[in-house]
Formats: sequence, structure tokens, C-alpha cells
Amino acid sequence: MTKLFSHVEMAPRDPILGLNEQFAADTRNNKVNLGVGVYSDDNGQIPVLKAVQEAEKQLAAERKPYAYLPIDGLKTYNEAAQKLLLGEKSPARQAKRAITVEALGGTGALKVGADFLRIAKPNSTVYISDPSWANHRGIFERSGFKVETYPYYDPETHGIKFDALKAFLNNLQADSIVVLHACCHNPTGVDLSKEQWQEIAQIVKDKQLVPFLDIAYQGFGEGLDQDNTAVKIFDEAGLDALISSSFSKSFSFYGQRVGALTVLTDSRETAQKVLSQIKIVIRSNYSNPPIFGAAIVAKVLNTPELYQMWEEELAQMRDRIKKMRNELVEGIKKVGAQQNFDYVKEQRGMFSFSGLTPEQVNKLINDYGIYAVKSGRICVAALNSSNIDYVAQSIAAVLKD
Ligand code: LMR
Repeated sequence: MTKLFSHVEMAPRDPILGLNEQFAADTRNNKVNLGVGVYSDDNGQIPVLKAVQEAEKQLAAERKPYAYLPIDGLKTYNEAAQKLLLGEKSPARQAKRAITVEALGGTGALKVGADFLRIAKPNSTVYISDPSWANHRGIFERSGFKVETYPYYDPETHGIKFDALKAFLNNLQADSIVVLHACCHNPTGVDLSKEQWQEIAQIVKDKQLVPFLDIAYQGFGEGLDQDNTAVKIFDEAGLDALISSSFSKSFSFYGQRVGALTVLTDSRETAQKVLSQIKIVIRSNYSNPPIFGAAIVAKVLNTPELYQMWEEELAQMRDRIKKMRNELVEGIKKVGAQQNFDYVKEQRGMFSFSGLTPEQVNKLINDYGIYAVKSGRICVAALNSSNIDYVAQSIAAVLKD
């Protein structure tokens, strides 16, 4: 027996997906998984959307062969994903200054974008929000970048350190890459206002920064056409930008891995050059993307009746999350907790930054079988009428200890 790999160290579990492994091994009946960002309905099930089922039927009837897709993915999907992201009136879209490629979920889009930036801006440093989605750091570091943080969340006010954020961005070197959460900030659920986005876009322009907008939750905040406000502001300001987007959440499509990378550039010619480099990145990573999930999304987005059906189902998911936010806050109040959690009602998207410490989160996991991310992030989209009282009581209990 040879021992080529015996020196390999055991890596820590992923801070988010690792919780799924722990949760699966937990034998308690009343366990609740508020770790990973997955929406489940009031019965605790991940929904299979009706619009998706209908698109599946239509695709089955068409019986097209499963040929290789082009390197940049399914054309009808790329076009529809771009239109949804940038809106009908997008200046970049109209001038064909934007390109969109299919990617393996939002994570895949970030990775392709990061590898492309390593070609286009090899000496830049990447700045992510403090705090940010844990995988942002991993993705950009793996692509060879140094990763630092910029000020964002203020635990005192449960808002944003906006002045500190602006001052920080104003001091960055030109070409610094700034990763911004375009809506439903992960993990805090606290977003910039429209006016604040306008100020940030101006700084990005003045300081020649490279914006990378990550939008994995379009439709989970206020609506499809409101949640891309930041994207539209950057587009209308004539800024170059990378944008990673995802249908994992909005289509309840987690395992299908359907996302997109869009790049806004200064001209049609630059856009084609950028696309040619991105195709090299994709080809040398996984050749070309899968067909099935993208075909379903394209069918829904390009068929008016299915689009409407999807939009309604998305609105139901969004409204249910808001209801759960309210019920959680009221539930914690009802059992007599001293702390005021009203700010949770104002946060947007799937997540809430509860303010629980790592020790309190550990207690929730060990004593109550309620799984949350160490940072105190809880997925409010996994609450339902059967588990909400238990979760509210358990949170109140660990706060008292
Ligand atoms: C999350 O933050 O829980 C989701 O984006 C899922 C993931 O890949 O981490």
C-alpha cells in the first residue's frame, strides 16, 4: 500500500452546508434546520412550483435530445435571465453592451466571474462585506485573490454603518474589486436604500472600483422588479459591473444549479471580448453547463402564462416569509424575553441576523435540536406553523441562560 495522501489534514466542515450533515444525523423528532438558505412551505417541504411542473410536462412532450450546450449555455435561457435581471429598459441591454452566460447556480457564477477577474484584474484585492456569505471569501481566495472586508453591519443599531462604508470605499485604490449584495443581504437581511445605492454607485464610478453585484434572492425581498434596483442603478449610471444571479431560491431549484453571470461593459465590442475570455474559463473548468434546469427556467420565463404562475408562487413564498418574521418576533415577546427583536421584521429575504452569540447558537443546537449558523444567522424561510412556537420558546430560553 502506498501512502500518497496520508499527510492530508481533515478540513473543517463547511459553516453552512456542514450543518445539513449534522442535522441529518440528529435523531430528535422536534429538530429544526434554520441553517442553510432553503425555503420550505408550511408543511416543512421544499415546494415543487406548479410553473416548473408545467414546464417539465411541456419539455417532456417536446422530447428534444440532450446535446451539448454551447460553452456559454442555453441561448434562450441566457437572454431571458438577462432581461429579468436588467429589466426591459436596460441601457446596457439595448446597446448590447451586456453579456450573460449560464452558470452552475449563483456560486458557479461567482466562481466564473472570479476566474475571469483573475485574467482581467490580476493584481486587485477583493473586498467583501463585514459580515458576508462565508463562501465569498473561499471563492475569491481559491481564484488567487487577497480578500479583505469593508464595514457594513452595525450590531448596535441593526442597521448599516453607511458613513464608514462610504469612507472606506472612498479610500480604496482604483481597480479594487467590491462584492456587493444587490438585495436580501446574506447573512444580515439588511439592505441599502435606493438613495444609498445611488451614492455607492457614484463612489464606485469616481474611484474606478470594480463592482461585483451578487443577487441570489431576486423576488424574495419586495418583488422581482424592486429587488434589482441596485443593478438598475449601476446599469443606468453606465458602470461596468459583474453580476452573479441565481434561480436556486426563486424557482425552488436548489439541486438543479441554475444561475447566470452577467457582465456590463462599455461597448458591444468589449462585451464580445469579455465573453470570449469567460468561455475559456468555463471550458477549462467544466466544458459547458447542464441543459435541463436552464431549459425549464427558459420555458417559464419565455411563456407568459407560466411566467405569471411563477410570479404568483414567488409572491406567496415571499409573503409567507414575512409572516414568519412577524410571528417569530411576537412569539419571542409572548414568552417574556427581555430583548426586543422588532428589527427582524424589517430585514429582508430568507435570513435574519438574530444577534445570538456562537455560544447561544451552540446551545440551540445541542439542547433544542435547532440548527443555525454560528454567526447567529437563522433561515426564517424554514419556519412554519408547526415549529414556530418551539423555535420562539427555545430562543427565549437560550437568551435567559
Ligand atoms: C446559504 O447561504 O445558506 C445559501 O446561499 C446556500 C449556500 O450555498 O450556502
